[in-house]
Amino acid sequence: MSDGAPASVGSGDAAAPEGAVLLGGITADEVQPLQLYRATMPNGTALCVGVHEGRFFAVKDYCPHAEFPLSEGTLYANGELECCWHGARFACASGKVLRGPAESDLVRFEVFAVNGDLYVRRGTAPLQSGGAA
Ligand code: FES
Repeated sequence: MSDGAPASVGSGDAAAPEGAVLLGGITADEVQPLQLYRATMPNGTALCVGVHEGRFFAVKDYCPHAEFPLSEGTLYANGELECCWHGARFACASGKVLRGPAESDLVRFEVFAVNGDLYVRRGTAPLQSGGAA
């Protein structure tokens, strides 16, 4: 598995995509493979952020089972995100629940790296592309 440096968009005059908001508490360069980070949207919503196979991902930072912060969990090399309280697992890029006790998928956001900053936008399309363009 190669989980190298995430792709970034823009060097100079790139702009954030329409509808995307700046993510506080983390920059693109700080995100390392197999690590999870807590970051905050301007409205105060906390997100769990990471990178997998060169693509950033972001999901709401609570487990749908009992609302434990996913940013305190584990990201595996296969892209599975595990909640460390009761062991639920999710696909980090799509947010799909893979193992209980959680029964709901995660709320996913698209992530864009622009000039070293991370921007997020609520993900709507089913994930194939998932993130940094
Ligand atoms: S709170 Fe995440 S598995 Fe229970």
